[in-house]
Formats: sequence, structure tokens, C-alpha cells
Amino acid sequence: IEPSGGSRREPWWRKQRARLLAAAQTDSPRYVYHLPTVRERARGLAEVGAVDRRFYALKANPHPAILRALADEGFGFECVSQAELEHLFSVLPTLDATRVLFTPSFAPRSEFADAIARDVWVTLDSVYPLQHWPELFANRQIALRIDPGYGLGHHEKVRTGGKEAKFGLPAEALPEFIAAARAAKARIVVLHAHVGSGIQDVSHWPQVYAQLVNLAEQIGTVSAIDVGGGIGVPYKPDGEDFDIPAFAAAMADIKAAWPQYALWIEPGRYLVAEAGVLLAKVTQVVDKLGQRRIGLDAGMNALMRPALYNAWHEIVNLSRLDDADGVPAEIVGPICESSDVLGKRRGLPDATAEGDVALIATAGAYGFVMANRYNLRALPVEEVLDV
Ligand code: LLP
Repeated sequence: IEPSGGSRREPWWRKQRARLLAAAQTDSPRYVYHLPTVRERARGLAEVGAVDRRFYALKANPHPAILRALADEGFGFECVSQAELEHLFSVLPTLDATRVLFTPSFAPRSEFADAIARDVWVTLDSVYPLQHWPELFANRQIALRIDPGYGLGHHEKVRTGGKEAKFGLPAEALPEFIAAARAAKARIVVLHAHVGSGIQDVSHWPQVYAQLVNLAEQIGTVSAIDVGGGIGVPYKPDGEDFDIPAFAAAMADIKAAWPQYALWIEPGRYLVAEAGVLLAKVTQVVDKLGQRRIGLDAGMNALMRPALYNAWHEIVNLSRLDDADGVPAEIVGPICESSDVLGKRRGLPDATAEGDVALIATAGAYGFVMANRYNLRALPVEEVLDV
């Protein structure tokens, strides 16, 4: 068990610098994923003994090597689209369907039908599917996503609870849902909530568990409580690791209070964020009206998080890792939009020059999978390290 509190672990990429510099000489930009780090995070969560089942939210990073590594660590998977299900079963053809959750948002009838045919756990988050497609759910066990009334997370765009959010059934609508389930002959056996992404406060999950237990008691047929994902990671070098021992203790307490329910979690980011880096090459260094800009061959096309959420990612010049910080520079990409900024006021070395390799850290979650081909730029390449 990691010591609680204190700061972030030493990132793996410092030790792999030579290998990364060599890799960046071929295709760029390039995502590199470090499988030992994925396994280390998976084993950290495995120590949270009160949790009965862990599902990896593969939207964070569906790379086949990562899916295989997590399946080997005993994880199940959470999918949000038919394409994610197809991808998962193409990578892991013998995966047991009971290890898979389907938790879509406003998916069409056909995707529910597909998930049901695969016999995975299907989560509803409004009464609409039961009322309009009751035949799909007849004599089925279903999961129900509750909106506990609030959202949490690193940015308003990733908060998924409360009146403003499109997700989840509010507790007030539970009687109507129960009636529709009864009419459709569906049985509610899992209660689920996920209020957002990038949560560091361990008290959130016990709180949501208690809320869901209260509703489970009204339903009477529930056997598992899924408290969602959302576990945060440190993006800043002086940030703190998620406090696994405190999380384990909190989960043990709630499990002791209500042992009759199986306790499920579905983290995404925590397992993969720190395992991934984005490598890019410096294209130009330009001083304009007193502002230095360092251009990279990767921008908001390769990593959307800074443009979309003002997300902060550590950026270093891997070619000059030991040089002192230089004048503050804006790190920009090659996209024709002013939002194409990966970092503001970054002290990269003054000698930074065309051809240097920049490393953008903690990019393994919601990185490549959200990349796009805007300006018709090619997608980054992906590479896996298992050393
Ligand atoms: N379960 C459900 C139902 C979810 O919607 C999500 C993420 C997760 C689990 C996993 O959440 P995580 O453990 O990774 O926080 N693109 C954003 C994050 C969006 C998260 C969407 N839902 C970002 O880059 O910050």
C-alpha cells in the first residue's frame, strides 16, 4: 500500500527517456502507454478489499493491450456504445458477458437490443426505454442509473449529476420507473450512480452508496450497488496521489454497514492517465510582441483536454530535460484556431529548438480516443511499452 498523503509518485517516463527519444524520431505525434503502470494502478485498486467488482470504463482508453492487461488483472468493463461493445469483444472474444456493463446515454433502441442480445448488464437512466421498448426488457435483470442530485469533478463539462445534467433518473421519478419496470416484467437488480470525473475527495463514494442503499430499500430487488468511477489523478508535479488507503477504509465502513449489497466501481482515468504520454516535436519557436510561443506538431487535434476543459498537463522538453527553465512560453499546436494551446506560461529551456521532443504527461486517459482529424491532420500513432 502506498503511503497516504504526500505527493505524486515518480513518473515512469523519466526512466524511459532514451527509449522515448528514439521512438519520437519516427512517427510524431505519438502516444506511448506504459503497461506496468496500468497494472500497478489496477493492483492498487485491487487492495480496496470491500469492493466486489471492478469495471474499467474503457472510454478512457480502449487500446487492445490495455484491455487485455486489465482483463488479466480481473477487471470487467464498462461500455457506453455498441461500437465499444464490439471493440471489447473483438479484443477479448472469450470474455464472460457478466463482466460487462452497458451504460449508454440517449442510445437508440438498436444499441439496447444489441447489448441485450450479448447478455451484458444493461443500465437504463430514464423511464423512456421501458415505456417505449418494454419488449426488450421483459423477464430481464436491469441496472438503473440514479442522479443523486449533484455533480462533481474537475470541470463543469464532466459533471454528470444534478438538474443541468442529461444523465440519471432523479429519486423523485423512482416510483414511476418501478411501475414501468413492473409493467415490462423487468427486475431492477443493480443501482448505479456516476456524478463526474476527476474527484479526489474519498468521502464522495460512501455518500453516494448511502443514497443508493436508501433507494435500493424502496425497490426491494437490488443486489448490487455501483458507485461509478471518477477517481482523480494528480496532473501537476506537486499534486497528490489519490489516497487509496483512505478510500479502502471508507469502502470497508460502508460495506460493513450494508453487507447485503455487492459493491461495484467503474474507474477509467485512474487506471490509465499516468500510464500515457504524448510525444510531439517542436516545429518553430516564435517571439511575438514579447510573448514566446513554442510550436509542436501536436495540438488540440491530438489532445483536446486543454482546449475543452482548460485542463493542465505537464509539458517538458525531453531532449533537454536537465536544462533550467527559460522564459515563460505558450505551447501551441498546428491547428488554425486560437484555442489550440496545450499550455500557458510554461518554462521550457531557452535553448528549445526545432526538432526537440516535447513530452506531454498524464495523457493516457481521454487522449488518443478524443483526438480528431481537424485540418485533416493525421491521428497520432500509438505505442505500448511493457518494460
Ligand atoms: N462511469 C461512467 C458512467 C462514466 O460516464 C465515466 C466517464 C466513467 C465511469 C469513468 O470516469 P473516470 O473514472 O474516468 O473519471 N473526457 C473527460 C472525462 C469524461 C468522463 C466521462 N465519463 C476528461 O478528459 O476529463
